[in-house]
Amino acid sequence: MDSSRGGVRDGRLLLQLCFLLAAAVAPTCRSREAQPLPAEQVPAAAGGRGGAAAGGRRAAVRHELSLDFYAKTCPAVDQIVGNVTAPLFRDNPAAGPAVLRLFYHDCFVEGCDASILIAPTASNAGGAPRVERDMEENRNLPQEAFDTVEMAKAAVEKSCPGVVTCADVLALAARDFVHLAGGPYYTVKKGRKDSKVSLAGKVRGSLPRANSTVDELLRVFASKGLGVGDLVALSGAHTVGFAHCAHFVGRLYDFRGTRQPDPVMDARLVKALRMSCPYTGGSARVVVPFDVSTPFQFDHAYYANLQARLGLLASDQALFLDARTRPLVQELAADKDRFFQAFAASMDRMGSVRVKKGRKAEVRRVCSQHLS
Ligand SMILES: *[C@@H]1O[C@H](CO)[C@@H](O)[C@H](O)[C@H]1NC(C)=O
Ligand SMILES: *[C@@H]1O[C@H](CO)[C@@H](O)[C@H](O)[C@H]1NC(C)=O
Repeated sequence: MDSSRGGVRDGRLLLQLCFLLAAAVAPTCRSREAQPLPAEQVPAAAGGRGGAAAGGRRAAVRHELSLDFYAKTCPAVDQIVGNVTAPLFRDNPAAGPAVLRLFYHDCFVEGCDASILIAPTASNAGGAPRVERDMEENRNLPQEAFDTVEMAKAAVEKSCPGVVTCADVLALAARDFVHLAGGPYYTVKKGRKDSKVSLAGKVRGSLPRANSTVDELLRVFASKGLGVGDLVALSGAHTVGFAHCAHFVGRLYDFRGTRQPDPVMDARLVKALRMSCPYTGGSARVVVPFDVSTPFQFDHAYYANLQARLGLLASDQALFLDARTRPLVQELAADKDRFFQAFAASMDRMGSVRVKKGRKAEVRRVCSQHLS
């Protein structure tokens, strides 16, 4: 789920890229159509755990969350957050995938506990990494994602001071952006506490890499209590968002030491991507959409792209090449509603990973700082 700030704000660059890719491989490069948030929460279409795309074991530590956790203390929390996310999305749709990625990086390291939000420390001064954000894996998480969560949290604090956690605000904001980009509106259970620690040492090995094999992906997901269905459904978040060239440039020029492009990648896509991403000396600011056909639309085109060998990262394309995940890719490519259901159900499971409760955790006032 690599997206980035660099270049995304430069609409011209993006449009050019979009046309370039569209001319090469995709029939259209449709722009997003933002949808308003519904006034009321609609019941999640999800919940069905049957079917190929569902499944996944539960995390070892799993506290029960609930839809009405703030019913007495902050009943309008969903709407308050929605009042912040909707205008932000209109101004800058790239904030959407940025926040989604932030949520994912939070949940996969020590659980959904806002540990990723603690302000970076030592690395900026050249010292050893101390908090999660200091680690290489988290360095290019876009600042706008952090800013978005702080803004939503500040709005919530105004109405209900000291009540709603940053971990819950992040989960709500991620849901809003999925819907704003055209994806499903699913309900979000609440009651996660914020962690009192954020440790750099917990990051390594907890997040999949752009070149991870399906074995590695499944191992990382299993360590969070998530299964093969969750892996395939959550990877569908790459229907929006962008990656830096560094994450796939090997596929364009020297795939696994062969000095040839990845033979699996559509040759037209290789050609188009090479124009944006030279083997060496390219700009670190250039980013490329994961979904070359509808980069701003939260739809199921990601899976059709994998079938057409238009996956951007090796770890995306691998899902179509591996016998364990291929049937699920085909299922979700064929049925958008099925994808939306599976995605909502898997977000619910991911959002429950190692949730913290009780006095060992906190309710921060400002998401980047622990309570002192
Ligand atoms: C959300 O914004 C609308 C329009 O500005 C306002 O009427 C409403 O009270 C806000 N809702 C909450 C819960 O803050
Ligand atoms: C992925 O890339 C890293 C370096 O970024 C390398 O150490 C690792 O071996 C690669 N994994 C695979 C499966 O190619």
